[in-house]
Amino acid sequence: MGEGGTLRSCCTCAPLAFYIPPNTATFMSGLVYFSSASGNTHQLITRLGLPAWRIPKRASERMEPQREPSVLVVPTYADGKGRGAVPKQVICFLNEPENRALLKGVIASGNTNFGRFFAYAGDVVSAKCKVPLLYRFELSSTEADVDRITQGMERFWKRQS
Ligand SMILES: Cc1cc2nc3c(=O)[nH]c(=O)nc-3n(C[C@H](O)[C@H](O)[C@H](O)COP(=O)(O)O)c2cc1C
Repeated sequence: MGEGGTLRSCCTCAPLAFYIPPNTATFMSGLVYFSSASGNTHQLITRLGLPAWRIPKRASERMEPQREPSVLVVPTYADGKGRGAVPKQVICFLNEPENRALLKGVIASGNTNFGRFFAYAGDVVSAKCKVPLLYRFELSSTEADVDRITQGMERFWKRQS
């Protein structure tokens, strides 16, 4: 992770709405995430043990608007040319003005096999919502990713307070 609460991009490495209680004493607010049936992003969220809300798998399922500041964790689902990178369920979430207003940053995932479009959903959300891209990880993440994100989120929320 970089200085001042910004997480460093990591290109080499590689849970319905519900609540996961925090395992750390200090946090300002949580993560909101999407994960498809393959569940890679959900695995990262489970390992982090930070407060997290899941965007429903089906775009038709309702989700309560966010009430707390949050960082979005989003996997990339582009077509090989960068199109359609942000899952439509996440677009629905971001179309709600309350959710956008409380969005403070984005963490993106993907598969490095996609080359320059690795974790591209993060670039798209960052540009469209004008929030920092905090970190990128591959597939279900590594232990190093979990450590970096845990420490980085703590610094990030302290800086926001
Ligand atoms: C149809 C499809 C398109 C994908 N497109 C990209 C892509 O453009 N860039 C990328 O980095 N990963 C891409 N991926 C990989 C996923 O982002 C990766 O498997 C991710 O971990 C899935 O997260 P989830 O299991 O939580 O849904 C794609 C995967 C699929 C199935």
